[in-house]
Amino acid sequence: MFSLINHNSFGIDAKTENFIELKSDDEIDKIFETFNWETKFFILGGGSNVLFTDHYDGTIIHVNNKGKSIIEESENDLLIEVAAGEVWEDFVEWAVKNRYYGAENLALIPGQCGSAPVQNIGAYGLEAKDIIHSVNFREIPSGAKKTILANECNFAYRDSIFKNELKNRALITSVVFKLSKRPSSNVTYRSLKEAFEKKNISNPTPEQIYQTVVDIRREKLPDHREIGNGGSFFKNPVISQEKFSKLLEQYPDLVHWKVDNGKYKLASAQLIDKCGWKAYRNGDAGVHPKQALVLVNYGNASGSEIWNMAKKIQADVLKNFGVSIEPEVIILP
Ligand code: EPU
Repeated sequence: MFSLINHNSFGIDAKTENFIELKSDDEIDKIFETFNWETKFFILGGGSNVLFTDHYDGTIIHVNNKGKSIIEESENDLLIEVAAGEVWEDFVEWAVKNRYYGAENLALIPGQCGSAPVQNIGAYGLEAKDIIHSVNFREIPSGAKKTILANECNFAYRDSIFKNELKNRALITSVVFKLSKRPSSNVTYRSLKEAFEKKNISNPTPEQIYQTVVDIRREKLPDHREIGNGGSFFKNPVISQEKFSKLLEQYPDLVHWKVDNGKYKLASAQLIDKCGWKAYRNGDAGVHPKQALVLVNYGNASGSEIWNMAKKIQADVLKNFGVSIEPEVIILP
């Protein structure tokens, strides 16, 4: 049995029967010659969005290839291919340092580049889909090399074709991002806007956005290297206009965003906070004191302890607000 403790950001000491790391094209070729895809498997990137509630009775395939290369470049922008195993935080930092702009709002998100399209990672007014050009993958089980363009990926809020039609059918090997050489800034997200208003900066540079996002995240979110966590544990729920109006009457301070089809997205963090869960702790399982949406492992919590706490939170939010919040984190096995 192989311990996954260093392969999940919750720091859960779950074990797996079989662990295969893919570091090179050769190793990727080989798995398509040897692996029986009819057996139970899970493709793991950085492990920053999974919760192991028990040992994994199958094969964990960890994609960990490296490398990036500019594949097309013009006066204004560039296409850059990044191996799935590259660390996302490092890629964003590297891009900003090299003056390739567009990714800075997504600074410091844990995980690997190959996972970015799977759940269409997002933060501070930007989603991965906004900068993805295409995704290269190997088809399971044939091993055929395929490329899918961003507009074919069915990107949505923390969702994509890779979580649906292509679930367990695609091993992502690299992602092509479209970045800009011309600085431009996206400060639509409220807390980001407020941070610049406080600093009296009206037209922040991408470098300033990068630094500010880093500062906000460091201030509010625990570093999983110090305190185990999986980022936002729940998605933000989307509810009907009718339900929203009723809730707003009761809670005038309800944080919300208007989304498509006249619906409204609420902040799970606020709902959980209002239920009194913020800073809760039972043994080593807890709710982060600065961000109620982040469940944490203070040391030796088991995955099932975290999951049981999550279910209680879910039930409480449903009871108090009539709103069901769903995990963003993938619950295994
Ligand atoms: N809030 C509370 N209590 C809290 C925390 C927040 O009431 O304990 C309220 C705040 O007033 C704030 C609102 O909730 O106005 C929203 O909070 P925040 O801006 O921190 O964002 P979020 O909705 O909790 C989402 C993403 C994050 C992303 C941030 C910033 C999801 C599920 N989460 O969180 O993504 O970094 O916005 O854009 O969409 C992740 O997906 O892992 C993640 C961290």
